[in-house]
Amino acid sequence: MYTEIVMDHFRNPRNVGSIDNPDGVGQVGNPKCGDIMKIYLKINDEVIEDVKFETFGCGSAIASSSMATELIKGKNINDAVELTNKAVIEALGGLPPVKVHCSVLAEQAVKAALYDYSQKTGKTIKGLENYKPEDSEDIHCH
Ligand code: FES
Repeated sequence: MYTEIVMDHFRNPRNVGSIDNPDGVGQVGNPKCGDIMKIYLKINDEVIEDVKFETFGCGSAIASSSMATELIKGKNINDAVELTNKAVIEALGGLPPVKVHCSVLAEQAVKAALYDYSQKTGKTIKGLENYKPEDSEDIHCH
């Protein structure tokens, strides 16, 4: 049911933890399953130098956050913001259909953290101009 990559990122998640004085923090949660994902960013000159996550959730949510952090690390914020849950699923070699929303949580946590950074610094991030934090709250679990 789960690919080797998913199992690997679930058992050995990359970038677990928090960052002191982060430049951006994003937390999203799914009220239905109660899963919560929090992403911390350290940004220097528009580049994500470090990223950590804390996820209280299912295995797919942990694997998705681990993969999402790996995919945005070292990237320019304007590239990182384009991370989609589809890219996370592809990098994981697939997720069962009922677990797709777990990867959506990862996409939204990254966007929320970048939005927080843009709010704190006054920098505009391409694609987040019309972002509303409350949009992330509408994730449905199966
Ligand atoms: Fe809710 Fe995976 S995030 S079951």
